[in-house]
Formats: sequence, C-alpha cells, structure tokens
Amino acid sequence: MSRGLFITFEGTEGGGKSTQIKLLAERLRAEGREVIELREPGGTPIGEEIRHLLKHSEANGAMTAETELLLMCASRAQLVREVIRPALAAGKIVLCDRFSDSTTAYQGHGRQMDLARVREVIELAVGDTRPDLTLFLHVPIEVSEQRRRAREQAQPQLRDRFEEADRAFFERVEQGFQTIACAEPERFVTVDATSSIEAVQVSVWHQVAAKLS
Ligand code: TMP
Repeated sequence: MSRGLFITFEGTEGGGKSTQIKLLAERLRAEGREVIELREPGGTPIGEEIRHLLKHSEANGAMTAETELLLMCASRAQLVREVIRPALAAGKIVLCDRFSDSTTAYQGHGRQMDLARVREVIELAVGDTRPDLTLFLHVPIEVSEQRRRAREQAQPQLRDRFEEADRAFFERVEQGFQTIACAEPERFVTVDATSSIEAVQVSVWHQVAAKLS
C-alpha cells in the first residue's frame, strides 16, 4: 500500500482553518479517500489534556516559554506516533489543524526563543514525519484581532492564555509564518483567506489536487 498524504493548515486566528479542513475532508471522502482530521495541540487523549493545560487551565498563568515549547512538542510527539504515522502507513490522508510551523511561529518568533533550539525540540517530536503540503490561510492581523475579540465576548468563561498576548506578539507570529513561506515555498503555500469560504475552498482544492496521485 502506498503512503498516505499529510496536509497541515496554519495561520493566525480568523483564517477559517477548521471550516476549510471540514470542507476538504468532505470532498476527499466523496471521492472515496480515507481521511482523518486532527488538531494541535491535542488529537490524542494525552494531547487533549496537554491542550487544556496550555490554553485554559487556571494554573497556566505562571507557565514559562520553555514549558510551553516542551508541552506543544510533547502533544505532537504523542500524536505523531499514536495517530499520524499509523494513518499514513495505512494510506490515509491526514489533515491537521496546526503542526510544527505553529511552534516555529508562536514559540520561536512570538516568544522570541532561540530558533535553533526550537528546531531541535521539534525534530525530537516529529522525527522524519513532515507535512507533504502546508496551507497557510492568511488574513491581516486586524481581522485576526476582531475574531479573537468576538470569541472572547461569546465565551467569556473560557479563558485562552494565547488570546491574552499583545499585538506585538501576534505581529512577530505573522512575521514567523512569512519567514517560513519564503524559506519553503514548495511545501508552505499561502492562501488568501480574506475572500469567501467558497473561493478559499477552490484555492485549497487546487493545491491539494496537485498532490493527489
Ligand atoms: P487553536 O486550536 O484554537 O488554534 O489554539 C491553539 C493555540 O495554540 C493557538 O493560539 C496557537 C497556539 N500554538 C502554539 O503556540 N504553538 C504550537 O505549536 C501550536 C500547535 C499551537
């Protein structure tokens, strides 16, 4: 059996990653492909507990950048071995909402950690399991901010530590994603996510179809 296909989605808030993943999964399934949808941090029982700790736990106000990096990569190490590798070996298509590029952008650039160190920790977590294609759903920082504020208002009881960061942090994260886009244009493809859901879906499909055999 041939190896499956590993596609990741990246971006700041408000790019519509989860909507596009759902639509893509539906289309691929309609074509008879086996698809699994995952999110990071999370995607396994251990990973979902780590996600809670990182995002919502009352104790996480004291979390250091180093702890955050290691927890992101711990969740990923589990997901890669428990789910992604077996799925790819079985010929499935794996769609993942965020992966290593988020660590480079948020912990490396956003938290201003040493990029070589960050790369080493990512490598320990993923080994040779790398995305075949990454779709960077890009929206301007103002759109991201509006989306974050709307979410805070809709769910004030669900505190999210990442959404408490300041604008300069998100500007560095955006810069981080742009740096990856310049360094790896073959794999890391920017999609303009300011247009309609349908238009973005067409762009996403165009990129994915090129990878399907
Ligand atoms: P989300 O699933 O709602 O996008 O939340 C995940 C949050 O975690 C988001 O703010 C981005 C952040 N994140 C990192 O900082 N580093 C990572 O490696 C990953 C996967 C996510």
